[in-house]
Amino acid sequence: MNNDDFRQWSQRAADWAADYRNNLRERPVRPLVEPGDIFRSIEASPPEDAEPMDRIFADFEEKIVPGMTHWQHPRFFAYFPANAAPVSVVAEYLVSAMAAQCMLWQTSPAATELETRTVDWMRQALGLPEGFSGVIQDSASSATLNAVLTMRERALDWQGNKKGLAGQGRLRIYSSDQVHTSIDRAIWVSGIGEDNLVRIPVAGGFRAMEAAALEAAIVADREAGMLPAGIIASVGGTSTGGTDDIAAVAEIARRHGLYLHVDAAWAGSAMICPEFRQGRRRAG
Ligand SMILES: Cc1ncc(COP(=O)(O)O)c(C=O)c1O
Repeated sequence: MNNDDFRQWSQRAADWAADYRNNLRERPVRPLVEPGDIFRSIEASPPEDAEPMDRIFADFEEKIVPGMTHWQHPRFFAYFPANAAPVSVVAEYLVSAMAAQCMLWQTSPAATELETRTVDWMRQALGLPEGFSGVIQDSASSATLNAVLTMRERALDWQGNKKGLAGQGRLRIYSSDQVHTSIDRAIWVSGIGEDNLVRIPVAGGFRAMEAAALEAAIVADREAGMLPAGIIASVGGTSTGGTDDIAAVAEIARRHGLYLHVDAAWAGSAMICPEFRQGRRRAG
């Protein structure tokens, strides 16, 4: 594809995307396909020669789009809307055009510095105190895995990665029974073992971990010679929005020297509205 073709097809893609948004309401929310229909419509072997772009685009329109579930559809009521504000679609295009590699400051200084600045904007928007900082993760699952690995290493005096987990103490991590399955996956991947994810019962309209039960579990585990490593609290459990009392959980974490991770993937952004920040406490 030469640069003129690139310009032409980029414009065609932009027109397609604007029309898609305009006419989305007329499509079915879910594709009218049976499992395997799309697989069978794709040639079994890769093409020997380059395909012309108009054929590729026609395949996209005729085979792929009718096989998609349309998360932006006005009648899509499952899960949650999927992060495709028009402005972010345009941004995605620009990022792709540069093939931006943003893993280190050297690889893209502007990306690192923009990230640092906007993470602080988020801190301010959420009403968090100065001193909170961080980096953007590629998914909530990765954020939780990073947190669980940090809990593990911190509790093992940073020896887990070095010596392995055999012969180390029995690590314990605490969460409510409302958390997303990504928490279970992080526990598996980190080698902590699902028997060591202690599910604290919930109570009240917000299905929050019972603080007394949390603290009792930590104390009992320590007395039994285990190694409490961290707590995973939730602001919006995926099934019903279960939300822990973060202040109470943070206080217990502080008292017992435990690392606290808050999974706020589902409802955290609501905390930008000050009127929602105290909601859990009001409803009890
Ligand atoms: C509360 C919660 N945590 C974590 C996740 C996992 O998110 P991701 O797909 O970004 O890993 C989800 C996804 O639905 C979620 O609702």
